Amino acid sequence: MTPDIRPFDAALGAEVLGVDLSKALDDETFAAIENAWNEHSVLLFREQSIDEARHLAFSRRFGELETHVLDQYLHPEHPEILIVSNVMDGDRHVGIYDAGRYWHTDLSYMAAPSRGSLLYAIEVPHGEDGEPLGDTLFASTSAAYDALSGSMKGRIADLRAEFSLANRHAKLVADGDADAELEDRHHEKAPPVTHPIARTHPVTGRKSIYVNEGQTARILGLPGDEARDLLEALCAHCARPEFVYRHKWRVGDLLMWDNIPTQHLAVRDYALPRRRYLHRTTLKGAPPR
Ligand code: OGA
Ligand code: MN
Repeated sequence: MTPDIRPFDAALGAEVLGVDLSKALDDETFAAIENAWNEHSVLLFREQSIDEARHLAFSRRFGELETHVLDQYLHPEHPEILIVSNVMDGDRHVGIYDAGRYWHTDLSYMAAPSRGSLLYAIEVPHGEDGEPLGDTLFASTSAAYDALSGSMKGRIADLRAEFSLANRHAKLVADGDADAELEDRHHEKAPPVTHPIARTHPVTGRKSIYVNEGQTARILGLPGDEARDLLEALCAHCARPEFVYRHKWRVGDLLMWDNIPTQHLAVRDYALPRRRYLHRTTLKGAPPR
């Protein structure tokens, strides 16, 4: 059966109907999903009921999986699953509790950043009014690139930037989160790297802006002030409302995104005892070009 792909009324994203991820998919169905993912960048599958094994099996159809560098938050039995959660076990965080505090693209601080991520909602916090809390915003950085002036496209064409996990954690600590201090092993596994700030999608050929608020430390090859202003301007441009889809979570949502032409941000408008608990798999990627 061919899945029904319904694009969102936004610069990116589509809902996929008629697919049950708890069952193995035939090649034709899978190909339709993979094509839709490349075309729409974010795909939503509602009302799913999958265990860890099915989440992993579906994810592996897209390619090899990554084991996240923040190894304190890995699923104890399935290290390729990252727990995204605010839940505590005593004074220990069971998962990454601030995954999306700043606009970012997953693993942009690695030499080979992630190709995509698949996030499955198991517990979603709600407000007094019954509305879900903890929305996630996705920006199309390819739509943002297309909207740049010709001269700006020319200006960024050959520029590179430094990305680092340490930059993200220094921001978290500066913003008051003492638990965000990195250990030596994290620094060793994720030293700073550089990437082009305008990258080309290997499948669609579309260009996108590749800088983000959380993980881009600085643009290289420009005087300090100019580099800072350009980084801020590009980040602000990507976050303009016309490029953004805001996801309201429901239990059973599996949301997958392409980390090449997007960035995302999590809204922290909830706290314990309201619980949020999700499982994420992370697809390996290649160095940006
Ligand atoms: C992620 C992430 C945001 C959220 O899992 O990569 O950034 O809303 N999550 O949990
Ligand atoms: Mn993320």
